Amino acid sequence: MEALDRLRAEAAAVLESAADAGAIEKARVNFLGVKSGQLKELQKLLSGLSPDDRPAGGKRFNDAKAEIVASFALAQDRVASSQQSGVPNVEAIDVTLPGDPVRMGHLHPITQTIRRVQEIMARLGFESVDGPEVEDQWHNFDALAIGAEHPARDPLDNFYLAVARGSDPLLLRSQTSTVQIRVMERREPPLRIVSLGRVYRPDTADATHYPMFHQVEGLLVEPGVTLAHLKSVLRFFASSFLGGDVRVRFRPSFFPFTEPSVEVDMEWGGRWIEMGGAGMVDPAVLEAVGYDPDKVSGFAFGLGVERIAARRYGVADIRDFYRNDVRFLEQF
Ligand code: PHE
Repeated sequence: MEALDRLRAEAAAVLESAADAGAIEKARVNFLGVKSGQLKELQKLLSGLSPDDRPAGGKRFNDAKAEIVASFALAQDRVASSQQSGVPNVEAIDVTLPGDPVRMGHLHPITQTIRRVQEIMARLGFESVDGPEVEDQWHNFDALAIGAEHPARDPLDNFYLAVARGSDPLLLRSQTSTVQIRVMERREPPLRIVSLGRVYRPDTADATHYPMFHQVEGLLVEPGVTLAHLKSVLRFFASSFLGGDVRVRFRPSFFPFTEPSVEVDMEWGGRWIEMGGAGMVDPAVLEAVGYDPDKVSGFAFGLGVERIAARRYGVADIRDFYRNDVRFLEQF
């Protein structure tokens, strides 16, 4: 039965070196083939053994066969897995190559401006507060002493919202001065707040107008506040925001809720730019929210965020802020 051992060894060697499925199949036919495989030939010899030797011979034969079958399975696995790993090998990841740069986004220039204004005003103790963009007429007009016949209420100058007949229409706020009222109604003086947010007016869009824009509202109410305090705060703000020594100029103006009222101009780079309106809070407004105008006074101001952002970044057309063109936005 040495022939069996030799066959075992030969089969193992051939199958181990079989490089592909074709070679394995050839080996299978050669060793395990049902018709004329070498194992089959040896099986025939078993019948020539004496009855005493036959059980041992049968066992050796079965062992040899099992081993060849096992080598066969092993070879099949090996070839199959090398074929599989052949696929990723072709497209293998080269960990030494430089990576693809991750494109980082950043905050919109208007958002950056808002955060910067908040940060500067916080240094003077002004707390940042929010108010609703859908407002009632009390907060947008009445409490600000804007009378029933005032042109600022004109339906052509506001986005009124349709409501049930008989009730006062709500509107998209046309100014952030609404927040002055909302805060004073809730809190007692002293107060130092800023509120930055969207306001809406049905203006035709051009380089300096847009139906939606942003305002900074500032309000300070304490005993003994004067216009000089207002000017100091605005000057500090302008110099911090634009950099350098920015001059601030007041021109007489009128707002129903401030008395006296001024237009605020800032000089920067040799040019005076109108930045918004301001004034001393009208005693009638203080009374409307339950404050005593004999005990406290206050100033308020409202500046255009797009204006100060355009000034700072040198943007000529505020519509660029809203076009969402990445080539524009990624410059900030
Ligand atoms: N709310 C005014 C406007 O939108 C600006 C303003 C704010 C004026 C605060 C005075 C005081 O035009």
